[in-house]
Amino acid sequence: MINNKLPLVDLHRHLDGNIRPQTILELGQKHGIALPGNDLDSLMPHVSAVGNQPSLVAFLEKLDWGVKVLVDEEAIYRVAYENIQDLQQDGIDYAELRFSPSYMGRFSHIAPEAVIDATVAGVQAGLKRFDCQAKLIGILSRSFGVEACQRELDAILSRQHAFVAVDLAGDELGFPGNLFEPHFKQVHKTDLNITVHAGEAAGAESIWHALERLGAQRIGHGVNAAADHKLMEYLATRQIPLESCLTSNLQTTTVSSLAQHPINDFVEAGMCITLNSDDPGVECTTLSKEYQLAHDEVGLTAAQLAQIQRNGVQAAFLSDGERQQLLESKLNN
Ligand code: ADE
Ligand code: ZN
Repeated sequence: MINNKLPLVDLHRHLDGNIRPQTILELGQKHGIALPGNDLDSLMPHVSAVGNQPSLVAFLEKLDWGVKVLVDEEAIYRVAYENIQDLQQDGIDYAELRFSPSYMGRFSHIAPEAVIDATVAGVQAGLKRFDCQAKLIGILSRSFGVEACQRELDAILSRQHAFVAVDLAGDELGFPGNLFEPHFKQVHKTDLNITVHAGEAAGAESIWHALERLGAQRIGHGVNAAADHKLMEYLATRQIPLESCLTSNLQTTTVSSLAQHPINDFVEAGMCITLNSDDPGVECTTLSKEYQLAHDEVGLTAAQLAQIQRNGVQAAFLSDGERQQLLESKLNN
């Protein structure tokens, strides 16, 4: 279902939601961390959301064991490096990997600046070794509140050349976007782009807020735009990209089935839809599987999926020169 003449791009992929279960097991054993399972079979239910979760917050808890084993910079480096290897294994040409430095340092109390440095080092080593490209997005984890996000933003801005954008993720219902207007005002003073998780757990008003008050250039998920036709029209007219993640939306119970997912309506409305993986490790998915699902379960055609691949290139936080290079790298294949 993937068109090999077009780049395969993943714009919404959490590095800290893609820690291999085998790595969790090995790091846990190495550092004497008591895990809820001593082998892969017994660990899997605790680190994966297969079987679906009753809410976004319950889903997010599945990421915690991956972060609990990040006891030092070496562990962070390893996980970042393996994330790049996973991109190559999935045939991804370009990805924007996002991570929350404060969340990754939450259990070890490693400072967010040190988390960023270790992550960047692991990513750079991976990019030297594996055949793919990646850029980084810094996340503000809204679940930990306004002040924690300010600390996290300070760390991201102290390393801003390592990033192409800032994102707001976590508990959208418990911590609505209006709490974070001061943070994004600060981001506006930089060259960093903005993408915001919105319209996933909360309604269309959260997407309007992300666009109008936080300055979002792309929307993470945006599923609940389906309830607001004016918003769909606004997104289509301006070609504001939605970062859609099918399996994630099912596992967080944002949609009750893939047949109910509004992505078909979005595509029909001419919106700029991209397909992404979100937390592939926790979801036990790959981007290739997401394309397959979009075809088999949602009914998108090969032509529509090719357009989605083109949209991914168009929506990437790349310079025009980088975008052109990415496109040409596949044409010459
Ligand atoms: N962090 C990781 N996955 C997320 C999601 N689907 N929504 C909000 N925050 C997240
Ligand atoms: Zn996400």
